[in-house]
Amino acid sequence: MLAPMTTATSAARRGPVLTGMRDGVRILRGPDAVLWWARFAVDPVGYLIRYHRRHGALSALGNVHPFGRGERLHAVALAPEHNQEVLSNPDLFRSSGLLIAGPRKSAQRRVRYGLIRMNGPKHRRQRELLMPLFQKPAVEAYSPDIGALVGQMLDEWPTDGVLDVNDEVHKLSLRVSARILFGREDPSRADGLGNMIRQWMHLGYEAWKFPVNLPGTPYYRLMRHAARMERAILEMVEEKRADSATRTDVLSILIRAHSAAHAAFSDIDLKRYEEYGQLTDMDLVGQSTVLFAASFETNATALSWTLFLLAQHPQVMHDLLDELQSVLAGRAPTPAEYDRLPLLDAVIKESMRIIPVVPITTRVATAPARVGSLELSKGDRVHLSHYITHHLPAIYRDPECFRPERWFEIRPGPYEYFPFSAGPRMCIGYWFAMVTLKTALAMILQRFRLSVVPGARIDRKNQVTMVPKRGMPMSIHLQDRRFEAAPVRGNVHDMVRLPR
Ligand code: HEM
Repeated sequence: MLAPMTTATSAARRGPVLTGMRDGVRILRGPDAVLWWARFAVDPVGYLIRYHRRHGALSALGNVHPFGRGERLHAVALAPEHNQEVLSNPDLFRSSGLLIAGPRKSAQRRVRYGLIRMNGPKHRRQRELLMPLFQKPAVEAYSPDIGALVGQMLDEWPTDGVLDVNDEVHKLSLRVSARILFGREDPSRADGLGNMIRQWMHLGYEAWKFPVNLPGTPYYRLMRHAARMERAILEMVEEKRADSATRTDVLSILIRAHSAAHAAFSDIDLKRYEEYGQLTDMDLVGQSTVLFAASFETNATALSWTLFLLAQHPQVMHDLLDELQSVLAGRAPTPAEYDRLPLLDAVIKESMRIIPVVPITTRVATAPARVGSLELSKGDRVHLSHYITHHLPAIYRDPECFRPERWFEIRPGPYEYFPFSAGPRMCIGYWFAMVTLKTALAMILQRFRLSVVPGARIDRKNQVTMVPKRGMPMSIHLQDRRFEAAPVRGNVHDMVRLPR
C-alpha cells in the first residue's frame, strides 16, 4: 500500500515526496497526505478513530502544501505522554488561535486577539489579569444570577411537543454568557452583542471553506462583520468606562483594572504588541470576543450532548433525578450543595469524556522540538486529540459505554482526561462552566423529561467544538419519570454504545 521513501537528492531541495519512515515514525507524503487531509476535513474525529487503529499513537504528514519550501510536518500525536510533552511547554509549542486571521491590521485580526491567540509573556500577563475573575469564589458569586437567568429561559420552554434542544441550550448559554460577561443592567444590549459574536463565529467557520475576500463570500462578510462588532464593543467599553464603578460584569471589572495605556488602535503592530503587558482598548475588544466565544458555544454544546446521553440512558437518568430531587426539591443548586450531588458531577465528567466538546487541539513548534521520537523543526504543527485519549481502553474500560459510576473508582491524570485542556494554558473558564452546567442540568431535569425523537439522525460536526450536526430533536414533557431510550441513526454510534 505505502510507497517507498524517495532519494536523498530530492529530499535535500524539497524534502522527500512519498510516504516513508523518519525517526522510527511513519510520515505520510504525496497522495497519502492529500488523502489524509481530504478525509480529515470531512469528519476529523471519525477519521482519527480509524487512523489511530491503523497507524498507532504517533505519525506525521509531510509536504502537505504543494508549493511549500522544505518539508513542513504535521505530527499526529495521540497518546497521553504526547499531550504532556506538548501542553506542558507552551513556550515551545505555541497556540495559533481560533478562526481565520484576516489581513494585517484588519478588525478581524484585532477581535480574535484574545487569550487563546496570545503567546509568550503577553499571554502570561493577561492570563494573570483575567484569572481572578474566573476562579471558584468569583464564579460562585454569579451562581444566583445564573440560576435566575436559567429559570427565566425555562419558563419559555413548551411543556409538550418536539423541540431542537441544541438550539434551546444555545439560547440559554448565550444569555448566561452575555449577561455575566457584558452586564445585566442593559440586558438587550448584552444579548445583542452576544448575538453579534455568535454570528461572527458562524461566519468564521464558513470563511474557512473559501478564504477569499470577494464580495458575496463568507470571508468578505466576516471582515465587515468583524469591523461592526469591534465598533459595538468599543462603544460598550466607552459607556462602561464612564460608569463602571458599581457594575459587576466581567467587562466592567476589566475596565476598572485597565491601565491608562491607550495604544493607538489602527496602526498597532501585533508582533511588537506581544511584548507589552497592559490591558489596552484593543485587549478589551479581543478578550471580550474570545471570552464570549470560548464560553457560549462550549457550555451549550456540553449541555446538548449531556441531555442526549441522559435521555439514552434511562437508569442513569432515574438515579440522577433521585439525587437532584432529594437534595434540591426542585430548586437550583447552590455551590455549597455541589458535594451532595456526586452523580451530577460524575455525569458531567463522563459526558465530556465520551464526547469531548473540544476533540482536537493543535500547536505550532516555536523552535526545534521533539514529540516522542519524532524531531520537529520550527513551524511544524502537532495535532493532539482529546477524543482519542478519552477513548483509550487502557485508561477507560469499555470506553464507548456511558458509565458515570466509573468516576467513583478512577482518577486519570491531567493528560489522560483533559476536556478543559491541561498545563499552563488550561481553560480559565472551568468554574464558570461547572456552575452553568450544574445549574442548568439540575433545573432542566427536575422540570422536564426530554426524550430523543425515535429514528433521529445524530451526527457530529467539527467547528473547533464538536456539535450535533443537525441539532438535537427531542420531545419535551413535564417531568413524569417515563424515561425511555430511542433508536437513533448517525455517526454518534462510533462514539457511544447506544440502542440502534
Ligand atoms: C464546557 C465548557 C468548556 C470547555 C469544554 C472548554 C474547553 C477549553 C479547552 C480545551 C481549551 C484549550 C484550547 C487550546 O489550548 O487551544 C480552553 C481554553 C480557554 N477557555 Fe475554555 N472551555 C469551556 C468553557 C469556557 C468558559 C465558560 C470560558 C469563559 C471564561 C472559557 C474560556 C477559555 C479561555 C479564555 C481559554 C484560553 C486559555 C489560555 O490560552 O490561556 N472556556 N477551553
